[in-house]
Parts: sequence; C-alpha cells; structure tokens
Amino acid sequence: LRHLTTLENLPRETIERLLDRAESLRDACAHGTRKLDVLAGRTVLNLFFEPSTRTRTSFELAARRLGADVINFDIGLSSTSKGEELFDTLHTLEAMHLDAIIVRHKESGTPEELVRHAMSGVSVINAGDGNRAHPTQGLLDALTIRQHRPDFENLNVVICGDIKHSRVARTDITVLSTLGVKEIRLCGPAELMPPVDEVPQGRRYDSFDQAIEGADAVIMLRLQKERMASIDLPDEAAYFSRYGLDRRRLALAAKGCLVMHPGPINRGIEIASEVADGAQSRILEQVGNGVFVRMAVLNEVLAR
Ligand code: CP
Repeated sequence: LRHLTTLENLPRETIERLLDRAESLRDACAHGTRKLDVLAGRTVLNLFFEPSTRTRTSFELAARRLGADVINFDIGLSSTSKGEELFDTLHTLEAMHLDAIIVRHKESGTPEELVRHAMSGVSVINAGDGNRAHPTQGLLDALTIRQHRPDFENLNVVICGDIKHSRVARTDITVLSTLGVKEIRLCGPAELMPPVDEVPQGRRYDSFDQAIEGADAVIMLRLQKERMASIDLPDEAAYFSRYGLDRRRLALAAKGCLVMHPGPINRGIEIASEVADGAQSRILEQVGNGVFVRMAVLNEVLAR
C-alpha cells in the first residue's frame, strides 16, 4: 500500500496482514520493545483540521515508536487562518520533504484529493474524513473483536446510534463485512439513519432491545451534534431511554458481549457509566490497539 484512504475494496488478505502485524507489534511491546528504528530518518506530519484525542496522539506515538520524526501541524496557528488554500498548504509542506501526511478533515474525500494533488510522492493516510471513512478506526475495531472472538463467521454485531453522521459506522461495516461477520445490525432513530442506497449493508432496527438480542459485540456511537445543523437534536433523556446502552439492555445480548465505542463517549446519553466502565467494556482496549494498528499502517506504507 502507498496510501490508506479507505478500507473499501481492500482485500481480506491485506486487512488480515495489517491486523497480524499490529498483533505482533503489540506482542513485541508487551515483551519490552518500546522503540524500533524501521522508520528512522522518515518524517510524518499530523494534519488535523478537526479535533482529535485518540487518533492524533496514537499516530504520533506510533510514528515515534517506529523511529520516525513527527510534526504536529497546528491548524489554529497556521496560515490556513489567513486564507491559505488546502492544496497550497499541501505543496508548502511537501516542499519540506515529508514522507507521510496523516489527514483529518470535515469534507469527505479530502484524503483522495490530497493524493491527486500531491507532487512529491508523499503517502497519505486518512485519519477520518467527513462521514465517509476512518480506516485505522475500522482496523482497530476489527483487531479488538478478533482478540476476543476470532470466529467472525459466527458473530452478530450491533452498531447503534448516530449512524448517519458516522465515518466509524461506515468503515466498521466495510471491514466487518470483508472479514465475514455473520450479521451486522444497525439501530438508531430514523433521522439518524443514512439512506439505504448510501449504506445498503446491515439489517436495520428501530428497537434497540430487538437489535441487541443475542449480539456478540455492540458498537455504540456518539451523537455528532457538530454535524447536525439541520436536524432537531433528540432530547437526551428520551434518546438514552430508547437507544442508550445500560445494564438491563446489555443483559439481552449474548453472554460476554463485547462493549465497544470509538470515543469520545457521552456518558448517560448513549452509554451508562456502569457499562462503559464495566467488565465487558473493551473501550480502552480499543484505544490501546489503536497505537499498534497505526504502527502497522505506517510500517506498511513507509517501510519500502
Ligand atoms: N475515535 C476517534 O477518532 O477519536 P478522536 O476523535 O479522539 O481521534
């Protein structure tokens, strides 16, 4: 791979190779390896036009653990605020001899646009674009599930919440379908579900109680209020009572159902603290796996 902009059309073998590599990096770190030098002399730029805690920090950590130099581009202090256009920013940064740009942007398709306009052969990695794709989140979610339930062909996975605005939902649907998950169930209020022609996969539910029955993993999503200008926000208490994950609802799932959330979580809106912090929660494992998945991706696109 030269770039990673989406998981769509990525063969199962490539996804499994990245997950295997992330797992072996995790094992190496567990046995004391804190730093490798496979990317020594390479430069990676974090170019985030939207806020991030997990993705940005773990890409930085991943790049440093592989021996690369990292620049965290501060949009607020950059000439973007003086009106510099995206591609002028790209070419300016490329002139400083970067090897990879990790980009997050509110406009879907921006990573592909950067690939098209890049002049230096820089690798582009998508850290989330609009509501379209978040490939490293999809990989870390797949890795977290595989760690506990490698039998994808037996798994019923529920994705619940604001699916309409979620690049995580779209990417998880793609990666879990590629890995052969038995059934993907989508649940949320009608106004927060994407049109079927946009997201044709998955069985749709309005009732969360029905969707979660016998589920092996449940991925909860945040209400993305920042993307909801034209939608009446659901009343939060009413939303929680219909679509929130609490202990009663989790008891309807299969025994040991994995509780997942890409973060940041809204406690008491889509998930109760007793579940987010409970024994079945894999939320912090997801965060930890994010570092190893991003190491695997950087290694894949840059170690040549
Ligand atoms: N899951 C995720 O993308 O989190 P951040 O927005 O904190 O990076």
